[in-house]
Amino acid sequence: MKIVTCIAPVNIAVIKYWGKRDDELILPINDSISSTLDAKSGANMCAKTTIMASPNFKDNKLWLNGKEENFDAVRLQNCLKEIKKRINPIGNKEDIINWNIHICSENNFPTAAGLASSAAGYACLVFALAKLYNIEGDISGLARRGSGSACRSIYGGWVKWCKGESLDGSDSLAVQLAPTSHWPDMRIIILVVNESRKKHSSTNAMKTSMSTSTLLATRAETIVPARINNMEIAIKTKDFAKFAELTMRDSNQFHAICLDTYPPCFYLNEVSHSIIEFVHAYNDFKKSTQVAYTYDAGPNACLYTLENNVSELISIINEVFPTSASREEYIKGIRVKTTELSQV
Ligand code: PMV
Repeated sequence: MKIVTCIAPVNIAVIKYWGKRDDELILPINDSISSTLDAKSGANMCAKTTIMASPNFKDNKLWLNGKEENFDAVRLQNCLKEIKKRINPIGNKEDIINWNIHICSENNFPTAAGLASSAAGYACLVFALAKLYNIEGDISGLARRGSGSACRSIYGGWVKWCKGESLDGSDSLAVQLAPTSHWPDMRIIILVVNESRKKHSSTNAMKTSMSTSTLLATRAETIVPARINNMEIAIKTKDFAKFAELTMRDSNQFHAICLDTYPPCFYLNEVSHSIIEFVHAYNDFKKSTQVAYTYDAGPNACLYTLENNVSELISIINEVFPTSASREEYIKGIRVKTTELSQV
C-alpha cells in the first residue's frame, strides 16, 4: 500500500475569475490574481486529503468530509484522466498505476459557502495524486480541471492565473508573482456571515452570466487587463492603498455582473452590505485606506489589511457585529490581542 497526505489552503482572489471560454477544459475569459493563505497560520482554512493506493482495493472510493461521494463525478474523472497522461512508468516501480485508490478529503471550514472550498479541495487532491504517482513539473493545469480557481492554490503567496490563448488550454496556468515573504505584514480577516451552501453554483452562474450579461465582455476585454497590470504593480511595490482600491472595485464589479446576469444572482446579503459600509467608514475615519473587502460567490467577507490594524479592527468588528457565540468559537486563526475601544 502507498499512502500520501497533503494540505492545501484556500486562495482569495483580488482580481476575480468569472466566465469561461471553454466549459469542458475550464478556460477563463480573463486573467485573475489571488493570494494563497499561509499553510501554517492559515491552518483554519485548509483542505486535507489522504490518498491510499493498494493492490487489494476492489473499487475506487471517495469520501468528502466523512461522507462517501460518487467517484465517477465528471471533474474528478477529468483530473484523473489528465494525471494518468502525465505518469511516467519509469518513475513508478510498482504496478501502482493499476491499483485502485481511496480518497479522503476534509475541509476545516464551511464547504461550498463561497469560501474557495473547491479551490483548496482540488488543489490538494491534485497535489496528493502528483506525489502518489511521482508526477513532475507544473500541476496547476491539472488542478484547473477540477475547479478553475484551484490552479491558484497550487502556489503560495501572490498568484496569477494566466487565461492563456491556446484552444487546448496548455497555456492556461498559474504562476507565482511573489512569495508570502514579499509582503509579510499582509493579513486576511474572514467574516463568516452565513455558512450554508451557496444558492447558485459558480459553474451554473458563470454560464448564465456568459450568455446574458452585457457587462461581462467589456469587463474581460478592457477593464481586467488594465487592472491586472495595476494590481501587479501594487503588489510588487507593496502599495496598500492602490492594492485595496483595486480589490474593492473588482469585487464590486464582479457582483455588479452577477446582478446584470439574467435572472440575477444575489450572493451578498444585508450583513455583507453593512460590512462594505463599515470598511469605507473605517477608512474615512483613518483618513487613508487601511482595509479592503472582497466577496466571492457568497455573502462572507474577506478583509485584507496590514498587521498593525488587526487588533483594532477585530475589536471594532466585535462591537459593530456582536455575536452570541463564545470568543473561542467565534474567532479562530492567529491569536489576536484586542484593543480597548476607548483607546481607538
Ligand atoms: O473556481 P470556481 O468555479 O469555484 O470559481 C470561483 C470564482 C470566484 O471565486 C467568484 C472568483 C475567483 O477568482 O476565485
